[in-house]
Amino acid sequence: AKSQAWSALFTEPMSELVQRYTASVFFDRRLWKADIQGSLAHAEMLAAQGIISAQDWADIQRGLQQIAHEIETGTFEWKLALEDVHLNIEARLTQLVGDAGKRLHTGRSRNDQVATDVRLWLRDEIDGLVTLLRELQAALVRVADEHVETILPGYTHLQVAQPVSLAHHLLAYVEMLARDEERMLEVRRRVNRLPLGSAALAGTTYPLDRARVARTLGMVDERGEPQLCLNSLDAVSDRDFAIEFTAAASLIMVHISRLSEELILWMSQNFGFIRLADRFTTGSSIMPQKKNPDVPELARGKTGRVVGHLMALLTLMKGQPLAYNKDNQEDKEPLFDTVDTLRDTLRIFVDMIGGERDPATGQRTGGLTVNRAAMEAAARKGYATATDLADYLVKQGVPFRDAHETVAAAVRLASERGVDLSELPLHELQRFHPAIGADVYDVLSLPGSLAARATVGGTAPAQVRSQLQRHRQRLAGW
Ligand code: ARG
Repeated sequence: AKSQAWSALFTEPMSELVQRYTASVFFDRRLWKADIQGSLAHAEMLAAQGIISAQDWADIQRGLQQIAHEIETGTFEWKLALEDVHLNIEARLTQLVGDAGKRLHTGRSRNDQVATDVRLWLRDEIDGLVTLLRELQAALVRVADEHVETILPGYTHLQVAQPVSLAHHLLAYVEMLARDEERMLEVRRRVNRLPLGSAALAGTTYPLDRARVARTLGMVDERGEPQLCLNSLDAVSDRDFAIEFTAAASLIMVHISRLSEELILWMSQNFGFIRLADRFTTGSSIMPQKKNPDVPELARGKTGRVVGHLMALLTLMKGQPLAYNKDNQEDKEPLFDTVDTLRDTLRIFVDMIGGERDPATGQRTGGLTVNRAAMEAAARKGYATATDLADYLVKQGVPFRDAHETVAAAVRLASERGVDLSELPLHELQRFHPAIGADVYDVLSLPGSLAARATVGGTAPAQVRSQLQRHRQRLAGW
């Protein structure tokens, strides 16, 4: 049967297995909207340049609109024998409008077509992801807002280090996500460039107006200048835009994975710092007491999956000579799955952290629940204010290294007694150093320790409030 677009040259049909092996329609059909969008822009330009007639352009428009309707309503018949989304749509177009359909591919190849489709599709997905990134930052900011004065131990090496404000801790993730947002927007600029007009690899003999197509497709910079890929060989073959997107996505997942790890630790019985709403946890089939943090655990696990896709795409690209090779058809599943995984993860985290908003009342329910008492109790254990005592001595003129030694000895005594530094009576503290006065208890308190760290970017509540303010302004509207 003459099913393929190039059949005249071929003397035997493909086996079913080879057909399935080479076909991509069952995954690339999700590019259909971008494919139609690209075809409309191309055809409009062909007509404007007098390469096809006004009648052909009208027919192509009508046909593609009909096809969009068929796909949307699920009546479009996808055919494996037609290999991919591009050939499926083109074949149906010709069925619907005859010769005009056959003229659509003038001055175009599937090579520049697919590169354009993937870029258009990815650009729109990036816009959705950036919105979600902002929503997640806003959710973290909302929780942080209520916890400027909530104190928990800060850790290094997962050992209690110095007390910090919970808001400060959460805003660390907001900083990471803000950089992620910036990165995504930079990637978007390079994604939003037009390959069409490159044809198979060398450009084309028709007088195409590439800038016109770029404008129609919104592939323009901030000043409205059309953005074209300027080397046809490069345009049809490189997938670096997909790779850098997946790299940026991997970093986002890595950040969410770090947050997940903390949520998991924090909700364990040994910490007891937080609770997640029940709908983000599951029980155990055997242990009746369990509430497991499945959502953050899966997010941590799915990070591996996205990082894997990055490796897949890098490896896919590395051995390819110029220009297009069919290897590139393998870019789609990793890219699609990266987008799906990231989108779902972000959506769930927005609700899990910030709570879901009831549109009727505007109230949010089911966000993170914080156990302030447990956090503060943990901050009081582990001598989190030892550095404050050393700093206190330095301010009395003791060299820092000596102060460090002195405090180590005091911590040793306190831990032998099983008490905090602030629970040692003044005369005992003075045995370690005569410069210690009654005001030492101010610096040994948790709020005193926090307030003292007032450098820009430090955990002092005044600092944290000014950072919160900056983020609130940056995220206005969310
Ligand atoms: N389905 C192909 C892909 O995803 C479209 C381009 C095919 N081009 C070709 N010369 N075989 O890359």
